[in-house]
Amino acid sequence: MKSDLLRQRFISFFEDRKHAFIPSSPITIKDDPTLLFVNAGMNQFKEVFLGNIKPKANRVVNSQKCLRVSGKHNDLDEVGHDTYHHTMFEMLGNWSFGDYFKQEAIKLAWDFLVKDLKISEERLYVTFFEGDSGEKLISDNETKNFWKQIIALDKILPGSKKDNFWEMGSVGPCGPCTEIHIDLRSESEIKNVPASSLINQDHPQVIEIWNLVFIEFNRKENGTLENLPNKHVDTGMGFERLCMVLQDKKSTYDTDVFSDLIKCISSIAKVPYGQSKDTDIAIRVIVDHIRAIGFSIADGQLPSNTGAGYVIRRILRRAVRYGYTYLNLKDPFLYKLIDDLSSQFKSFFPEIDAQKSVIKNIVKEEEKAFLKTLGKGLTLINKSIEKLTNKKKKMNGSEVFNLYDTYGFPPDLTELILKEKGLSYDHTQFKISMEKQKQRSRSASEIKLGDWISVNDIDAHRFIGYDAISCVSKIVKYRQVSSKGVDHFHIVFEQTPFYPEGGGQIGDVGIIYLAEDTEQSQKFVVEDTKKENNTIIHVVKTLPLDVQSNSVEYLLCPDYKRRQLITRNHSATHLLHYVLKKILGDHVEQKGSYVGRDYLRFDFSHFEKIDASILLDLEEHINNFISEGIALKEFRSIPINEAKNMGATALFGEKYGDQVRVIKFGDSIELCGGTHVDNTSEIGFIKITSESSIASGIRRIEAVTSVGALNFVDQKIRVLTDLSILLKTSDNIIGSVEKIITENKELTTLAQAVKNMQSDKIIEELSNQFIDFNGFKALLSQVDIDAGAMKDVCFQLIQKHNNIFVALATKKNNKVILNIAISKDLVKNKNLNASKIINKISSYINGRGGGQPFFAVSSGDFESGLQDSFSELKKQLNLIK
Ligand code: SER
Repeated sequence: MKSDLLRQRFISFFEDRKHAFIPSSPITIKDDPTLLFVNAGMNQFKEVFLGNIKPKANRVVNSQKCLRVSGKHNDLDEVGHDTYHHTMFEMLGNWSFGDYFKQEAIKLAWDFLVKDLKISEERLYVTFFEGDSGEKLISDNETKNFWKQIIALDKILPGSKKDNFWEMGSVGPCGPCTEIHIDLRSESEIKNVPASSLINQDHPQVIEIWNLVFIEFNRKENGTLENLPNKHVDTGMGFERLCMVLQDKKSTYDTDVFSDLIKCISSIAKVPYGQSKDTDIAIRVIVDHIRAIGFSIADGQLPSNTGAGYVIRRILRRAVRYGYTYLNLKDPFLYKLIDDLSSQFKSFFPEIDAQKSVIKNIVKEEEKAFLKTLGKGLTLINKSIEKLTNKKKKMNGSEVFNLYDTYGFPPDLTELILKEKGLSYDHTQFKISMEKQKQRSRSASEIKLGDWISVNDIDAHRFIGYDAISCVSKIVKYRQVSSKGVDHFHIVFEQTPFYPEGGGQIGDVGIIYLAEDTEQSQKFVVEDTKKENNTIIHVVKTLPLDVQSNSVEYLLCPDYKRRQLITRNHSATHLLHYVLKKILGDHVEQKGSYVGRDYLRFDFSHFEKIDASILLDLEEHINNFISEGIALKEFRSIPINEAKNMGATALFGEKYGDQVRVIKFGDSIELCGGTHVDNTSEIGFIKITSESSIASGIRRIEAVTSVGALNFVDQKIRVLTDLSILLKTSDNIIGSVEKIITENKELTTLAQAVKNMQSDKIIEELSNQFIDFNGFKALLSQVDIDAGAMKDVCFQLIQKHNNIFVALATKKNNKVILNIAISKDLVKNKNLNASKIINKISSYINGRGGGQPFFAVSSGDFESGLQDSFSELKKQLNLIK
C-alpha cells in the first residue's frame, strides 16, 4: 500500500469512529520554552491535557510532523547508521481528551492494525508498564487485563519506566503506556530466537510501531507527579515504520517514503544505494536530513547560530559532511533534493512546494558556506599535521575541539583525515574540552522554572488589551524563575491588558498596583510579558506581599505610550507587507518580523537587492495608505476558512485555531493577534531606514514610523543644517559640495605634480651620492621629505636603475623612518632580503621593521641612533659577496 493511501486510511479509520481531523502543527515551536521543535504529536495538546484549554473535540486524529534532534528525545546520532531511525518523521495519532481511556484505545489500535490493515496478529507483541517503586507507581494490570482479552498472555510483556512510562520532557503531562511491537524476521529466525527476548533491544526487525499513552499525571518541576483533572489518551504511531510493515520491507528507507529521494541522491553522486556500508549510511543520512531541513525552513526556521536555527544548521552540516566524505560530493547538492521532497508531500503538506525556490536558495547558500568551512578546516588540519613530530603521532584533542567549535569542522572528519595519514588524536582531551564548553553554555543559558503556585482556581486566558488600557484583576498563579543566576517571578492574572510577545510584536512593560491602594504606594514593575502556550505571563522582579491571598485585586497598567508606538509600527508592518507583494510580486513571503517601540523589521523572500528608487516607491505607497486615513476593520473571531476567503494572508509556520482574528486596512488583510491603530493616519508617516540581505533569497527592510520617523528625518535635517552652515549656503548645498569635490580633484592633481617635481629634484641630487660595493652601488642618505615622498623616491630609483641598494631615512615628530629598497635584479643575483636587512639595523633607532625582499620599512624613536644604523648597514653591505 502506497504511503499516501496508508496515511489516509489511518485518518479515515478514526474519522469513521467520531474523531475530528486536526492538521499537523508547524514543526517549529514559538511559545513553549521547554522545547525547540515538536517532538511528539501531543505537543500541540499539552495545554488541553493540563486542563488549561478546552479541545475542539473530545476525539481527534492527526499526522504530526515531528523532529527528534534535541533535548529528552534525540535520535540524531543513530540516524543513517541504522535502518529505521529518523530525525523528522510523521506521527499518526488518535486522541481522547477526557473521553475513552485504556480499553477503547487498545481495541481501536488492534482493530486498525489487525482488522483494517490485516497485519498478521502472529507477528504482534505488546508491552505494559510494570510499575516503579521509586515513583510509587504500581503495575498497570488494568492494561494487561485488557490485552489478555485480545492476545495470548505470552505476547504481553512487562516494561520498565524507561520504555513504558511516557514523558514529553522533564516536566509536563505524562503517564504509563502500552506499546505495540512487530516481528518482521523470517520464519527460520523466529524459530531460532523468540521475539519476546528481542522487544526493545534495538533489533532492526523487531520494532515498536505504536505507542498508546494513558496521560493521567503532570510531572512537576520538583519531580513529583500530580494527578491531572481528566484522563486522556495520546497515541503515536511511526508512519514510516507502518509503511515498512505494509510494504513488506526490511527498512523504512526501502519504502516509497524515501525511494524517490534515494534515487535522486544516487544519481547526483553516481553511487547506487546498496553499493557499500559507508555510502549507504551517507545516502540514508542525506535523505533523512533533507526532510528535517526542508520542513523546518518551510515552517519558518532559518539556519542560524543559536537555538533552533543552530540545530538545523548542524543537521544540514551533518548531511553535507557525509556527502563530502563518503560520496565525494564537493559542491552543493542537498538543495537539488528539494524538488523531489516538495512533489512527494505536495498534497498533504503543501508548505514545501509553496516556498520551493526560497528553500532551495537557503539550503544552497548554507551548503556553500559550510563547504568553504570544510576547505578552511582542511588547511588548518594540514598545518597542525606538519607540526606533529614523527614520534608524536597524536594531534592535541583541544586543537580538534577548536576546529570543531570555531570552524564547525566535525571531529569524526578530522579523525578520518588523520587516520589516512597514520595519525590519531587525543580523545580524552577532546572530551574534556567539549565538556567544559557544554558547562559554559549550560550555565549561560540555564533557566530554572519553579512549579506554578495556584492562588485562584479560575480560567486565565483573557487578553483584554484590544479594548482596555488598564484593568483590575486577580492573580491566578505565580512561579519563581531563575535565569543565568538572576531570580524573578512569573505572574498569571485572570485577565490582562498586557500584550504578550507574539507575532513579531514585543511584549508590554508596565506597572501593577494594588487596586485598593489609592495612594499607589506599592507598585510592581512588569519588565516583560510573554506567552507560554496560551498562558499570558507577566515577568516581575518582586512579588506583592500577599501574593497568596485569593481575594486581593490588582490594577494592571501597561506603559501605554510605549504600546502606542509599537502599535503604529505593527500596523505599518502590515502595510509594508501588502505593498511589497503589490510592487515586487506574489513571491514575497513573510519570513520574520520584529515590531518594537523604536522601529520595525520585516524579513521576506525576494531574490535581489531592492533599488533605491523602488524603496522610495514602497515608502510612497505606504504613506498614501497612511494619509488616506483608512479605518481599521477588525474581525475578532471568525472561522479560518471565512478569513481565507476574504483574502487574508496566513503565514507558514504559524499555528492558527479554528477561529481567527483578521486585521484589515483597505486591501491589506492579515491574520494577526497583535495590537493595531484604529486609523492608518495614526501612523503619521513611514521612513525606510535600511534594506539588506540576511540569507540567500531573504531580504530585510527596517523602517521607522510616527515619532521614530520624525526623529529620523529631524536628524537628517540637522546634518543638512550643519552642512549649510559649514558651506555658508542654504539653497544650493549639492552645488556647493559638487564644487568642492571638483576643486579637491584639481588640487590633488596639482599636489601630485608638485610632489613629482620634488622627487625628481631629490633623485637628481641623490644620484651622485652612490658608493661602489662589491659588484653593486649603494646609497645611504638622510632626506628632508615626508615618509610618503621618500617611499616614492625609493621606488623610482629601483625602477630606473639596475644593481642598486638604497637606504633612505627621514625624521619627523621625534621619529626616524627608514626605507630600504633593492633593485629586483640585485635581490635575485645576491639573494638579498630588504626585510631581513632592515631588522638587523633597526635596533639602533629603537625600531622594528618589516616588508618584502625588495622593499622594507622601519620606524624608531631613537633619532641619534641613525648614524650607527647606517654604519652597521655599511658593514653588512661590505660582507655581501
Ligand atoms: N506521546 C507518545 C510518543 O510520542 C505517543 O504519541 O511516543
